[in-house]
Amino acid sequence: MSAGTTPFDQLGGESAVRALVDCFYDLMDLEPAYARLRALHPATLDGSRDKLYWFLCGWLGGPNHYVERFGHPMLRARHLPYAIGHVERDQWMACMTQALSECAVEPAVAQGLRNAFRGTADWMRNRVD
Ligand code: HEM
Repeated sequence: MSAGTTPFDQLGGESAVRALVDCFYDLMDLEPAYARLRALHPATLDGSRDKLYWFLCGWLGGPNHYVERFGHPMLRARHLPYAIGHVERDQWMACMTQALSECAVEPAVAQGLRNAFRGTADWMRNRVD
């Protein structure tokens, strides 16, 4: 693993977080395997990209861009308008896993991030299916 002290540093800072987020939403837009996940999102993903980028910077231990703009993330509450069950959770994780791989994130860093994402994605479920 590289010498950074936070996951944000280990990933490579703001430009690397942005590249990961862009890869994640590009894949969501393109891959039929993520269609249920894509269908929950707005027609254009520009706003979603910015918000996830701002959020992840702070969540990974970097600058608090999201909190500065919107206050406390209240992530679960903000997801309540969207029906999220196992299928949506699994598509989110699969899409992020593919993005980590295509962005060539160092395997040890990617594994740590996948573990952190998995817990958060499961916590977002608001529907039994
Ligand atoms: C479990 C499956 C998930 C689904 C189906 C899902 C779906 C969505 C949708 C539809 C939006 C609205 C996009 C928009 O308004 O442009 C959203 C927003 C957001 N999601 Fe997720 N999400 C999931 C998991 C996650 C996870 C694991 C994270 C963070 C690690 C996350 C972070 C965010 C953030 C920061 C926003 C913006 C919130 C706001 O300010 O409105 N999501 N998500």
